[in-house]
Amino acid sequence: MPLVTTKEMFKKAYEGGYAIGAFNVNNMEIVQGITEAAKEANAPLILQVSAGARKYANHTYLMKLIEAAIIETGLPIAVHLDHGDSFELCKSCIDGGFTSVMIDGSHLPFEENVKLTKQVVDYAHAHGVVVEGELGRLAGIEDAVNVSEADAAFTDPNEVEEFVQRTGVDSLAIAIGTSHGAYKFKGEAKLRFDILEEIQKRLPGFPIVLHGASSVMPEYVETINKYGGQMPGAKGVPEDMLRKAASMAVCKINIDSDLRLAMTATIRKVLAENPGEFDPRKYLGPARSEIKKLVLHKLHNVLGCAGKA
Ligand code: G3H
Ligand code: 13P
Ligand code: ZN
Repeated sequence: MPLVTTKEMFKKAYEGGYAIGAFNVNNMEIVQGITEAAKEANAPLILQVSAGARKYANHTYLMKLIEAAIIETGLPIAVHLDHGDSFELCKSCIDGGFTSVMIDGSHLPFEENVKLTKQVVDYAHAHGVVVEGELGRLAGIEDAVNVSEADAAFTDPNEVEEFVQRTGVDSLAIAIGTSHGAYKFKGEAKLRFDILEEIQKRLPGFPIVLHGASSVMPEYVETINKYGGQMPGAKGVPEDMLRKAASMAVCKINIDSDLRLAMTATIRKVLAENPGEFDPRKYLGPARSEIKKLVLHKLHNVLGCAGKA
């Protein structure tokens, strides 16, 4: 099975009322933990790479790790650029073998977002690659970009048809109250399902993407804090809300922070309990196993894509 685009995956997910997990990858243990889980669950999969991940691990290393995962699992896997911020970055990923890219022009005025997104779509489609655009702005932190709550904005349903039609994007990321990172809600978690419903009505059958969808499991935060960490008030998106979104038009759910928490909690625990340990395999191995356990839970109990490969 070669790398695939998300086209077929999204069509089946939309019709089946489930979502595909898009997990961020930064190193070998993360790729292995995620793909071992997907193999065991027989789930279609999106592995996504941010500009920061590409800088950290190198494009070629990440591609080769993902190619290895395809050989090992035989699964349909898409490789996606997460939050591409320029035509040049998207082009470099398309030329380098990615099957899907995101061009995130959500911080731009509407007309400029349309122009940049269309430029990426024209190049991507000419090379058999699909494109995710974004309308509306999530709060939170990603790499060097920190969007304050004041600068965040829900997606305006009045803009979605024109944006999709003029750009030709294959999927659309929207802002309905999720945010990036581990600190998503101060009080009660709230998502604007009314906006999602309105967008779904205006774009029937069109795949919607939810960013900032980590649930920030309390057990990981507790473990991190028990072993020397300091994560006050971390809060994520409740799983029942993600299941509801997946049953609607949301076909791709982005998860990164939960992987980071699983990995960090495990490493902190192993090292605290074994202070003399200095073999990286002794803490990266358990971290990889914990990622596998977490992703299995997401595939079966949250996304609903287990058994759909
Ligand atoms: O949405 C952002 C992802 O969590 C990627 O984060 O840019 O720090 O790699 P990063
Ligand atoms: P989380 O920070 O909630 O994991 O969101 C990840 C994301 O949206 C990647 O694009
Ligand atoms: Zn994101």
